[in-house]
Amino acid sequence: RIAGPSGLVIFGVTGDLSKKKLIPAVYDLANRGLLPPGFCLIGFGRRRWTHAEFAEFARDHARERCRTPFREDVWEQLAAGLRFVTGTFDDDEGFDHLAQQLTALESERGTAGNYAFYLSVPPDDFPTVCRHLDRTGCTRSADGSWRRVVIEKPFGHDLASARELNAVVGAVFPEDSVFRIDHYLGKETVQNILALRFANQLFEPVWNANHVDHVQITMAEDIGLGGRAGYYDGIGAARDVIQNHLIQLMALVAMEEPTDFSAAALRAEKTKVLESTSLALPISETAARGQYSGGWQGSEQVVGLKVEDGYDPSSTTETYAAITLEVHNRRWAGVPFYLRTGKRLGRRVTEIAVVFRRAPHLPFDATMTQELGQNALVIRVQPDEGVTLRFGSKVPGTAMEVRDVNMDFAYGEAFTESSPEAYERLILDVLLGEPSLFPVSREVELSWMLLDPVLDAWAAGGTPEKYQAGTWGPRGADEILARSGRAWRRP
Ligand code: BG6
Repeated sequence: RIAGPSGLVIFGVTGDLSKKKLIPAVYDLANRGLLPPGFCLIGFGRRRWTHAEFAEFARDHARERCRTPFREDVWEQLAAGLRFVTGTFDDDEGFDHLAQQLTALESERGTAGNYAFYLSVPPDDFPTVCRHLDRTGCTRSADGSWRRVVIEKPFGHDLASARELNAVVGAVFPEDSVFRIDHYLGKETVQNILALRFANQLFEPVWNANHVDHVQITMAEDIGLGGRAGYYDGIGAARDVIQNHLIQLMALVAMEEPTDFSAAALRAEKTKVLESTSLALPISETAARGQYSGGWQGSEQVVGLKVEDGYDPSSTTETYAAITLEVHNRRWAGVPFYLRTGKRLGRRVTEIAVVFRRAPHLPFDATMTQELGQNALVIRVQPDEGVTLRFGSKVPGTAMEVRDVNMDFAYGEAFTESSPEAYERLILDVLLGEPSLFPVSREVELSWMLLDPVLDAWAAGGTPEKYQAGTWGPRGADEILARSGRAWRRP
């Protein structure tokens, strides 16, 4: 589907996210022919740029990061709709100018008065921006046109602040105009979780506590945090990744079948399963945090967090976090969901491993099954997108020896279609007014409810355990699983 007449206003347009993801995504959408001919991209920022200077900035970043080939003719057409408005969040003038610009673009470019406001700014700035948008009438549409707001994470820093933000945003935009971005939901492999579960007969009959031993959700990164201190210090891995991306993945794995794929049905099922979920206790045994110290990543020697630019040497910000969740319903009773994320780990990989119970009986000589583990279905979210089924197989030879093997599905081999980048898909959905892939306020609040007790326990004292860069995290995280005779996978 192609977006109708519209414009996108980005606050925080010179920031990292905008340069690396948003601007390139807009270009890719244009290149795929999914934007309307009069589309406008309006940047708002403190720089005293002309429209042409903004266009030059945007061109450089689009060109550097676009996923589709960079074509001058496509760029020229898009650039005709680029505008820049100079302003800061604490003065009226910039917002007044923005409102005038948006009105002018209705006739100049035929936007029909349809605008989305993308808040790629820290949550502390949401109230001010919302207030100005309201004051200048930007939040209200006339004659059937629409106004939407797109909110980047972090959505608050705990339940109380998330509720406050929901109230602030809700006071000026109706809930159906609020699009909270969790870019993991824009990933093809994440959307495939529901196809895998509900388009097949094979998996769903064993997708429950009778057959599943536990679930491991891993989001590991090899990068460190150099250059991101301003955002990351004081936030940490649990707020940055578990509260949003990992809890959303968990909800997709654990939820019941939706009646259809409408936003209302999907959100209802995700909300329901999150309502049934709680943190496993005691936190000291079911959660762990760590902070990377120097080490080797492949052939590169890297420094620890406290030596990275901008970090307070006494910082207790965790760069690794693991928690355990339990889902209190008939399907999942007794099945732990282990969630972990970290920076500077062994390698970059996001995966969901559904690990099955052992066979109730093995009619083999025990010496012949030493290399037989537990069956697992591994959804490889990235970077090597696909699905792996791990099961035991006879080792060729004269003895009945059994060893684990993998059966793989790889996106690259199975499909010739290319995957749109997550932000491309999500920006298009905003312009189309398609909310299925955006969490509702209740989901965000439920996620904070799960995480708050861990954050409080960590804030109450102690320091994150050190782990060496290039390893798989702190020992405390291994102990969470070891207590029940389990172990993390080494992806
Ligand atoms: C962001 C986090 O939401 O996701 C970052 O703030 C993290 O810390 C990033 O690096 C990872 O995204 P992806 O799509 O590269 O896995």
